[in-house]
Amino acid sequence: MILTIGSLKGGCSKSTLTVNVAAELARLGKKVTVVDADPIASTTNWVADREERSPDLPAVIGVQKKGNLRATLLDLEASADFVIVDTGGYDSQELRTAATASDLLIVPMKASPLDLDTLPKFVKVVEGIMDFNAELEVRGLFTQASTHAMDKRLDESRDILSDYPEIPLFDTTIYQRSSYMDVMPVGRGVVEWSDSKAKAEIQVLVQEMINLG
Ligand SMILES: Nc1ncnc2c1ncn2[C@@H]1O[C@H](COP(=O)(O)OP(=O)(O)OP(=O)(O)O)[C@@H](O)[C@H]1O
Ligand SMILES: [Mg+2]
Repeated sequence: MILTIGSLKGGCSKSTLTVNVAAELARLGKKVTVVDADPIASTTNWVADREERSPDLPAVIGVQKKGNLRATLLDLEASADFVIVDTGGYDSQELRTAATASDLLIVPMKASPLDLDTLPKFVKVVEGIMDFNAELEVRGLFTQASTHAMDKRLDESRDILSDYPEIPLFDTTIYQRSSYMDVMPVGRGVVEWSDSKAKAEIQVLVQEMINLG
């Protein structure tokens, strides 16, 4: 299964999701390759940190690639259970070519109305991709949601998404938790850490993804 994580926004948790989903799939015994298509290389750094600082954990293979990803992804899929592509926070050849080869396009969005301004443009990008890959499943995912009970931004964001049937939401929401920041430099996922709430949300998310495959 090939998953692309894409958005026209920076900082919406693409790399955080890539590595946390990879760690959970690896924990489940799956062969996982992550493809870093963002020159910032957060995912590549995580793979290197994992090898160096957490060598006893299940391996995740890392590949860096720019330009047209389609053939590379189809090739990598032959030797992995899951290929996960982390893209940059902008419209790119990498995002579009990866999505044409993917089973699932995951669209992370910060759970705040102000962060949803690129959605109309993103829907156009998705429509263009689906001309080449009509089978593509697309799912939105709210990230960095506030854990404060009084905060209404998640509800407001869900309301806005109801106007975009092209991007149905995962049931799972990812909340703002310091463990997501803490695990990155040691090459771990939150499923390999002590925060049971973060672990549970990633595990439920991964089950949702597997069920789509
Ligand atoms: N659920 C979360 N809770 C707390 N912090 C988070 C969460 N998700 C991401 N972050 C933090 O937010 C910042 C941006 O996250 P990340 O790098 O994953 O986003 P990105 O979409 O990959 O960004 P870019 O577009 O720059 O590649 C990082 O400092 C990360 O540690
Ligand atoms: Mg990133």
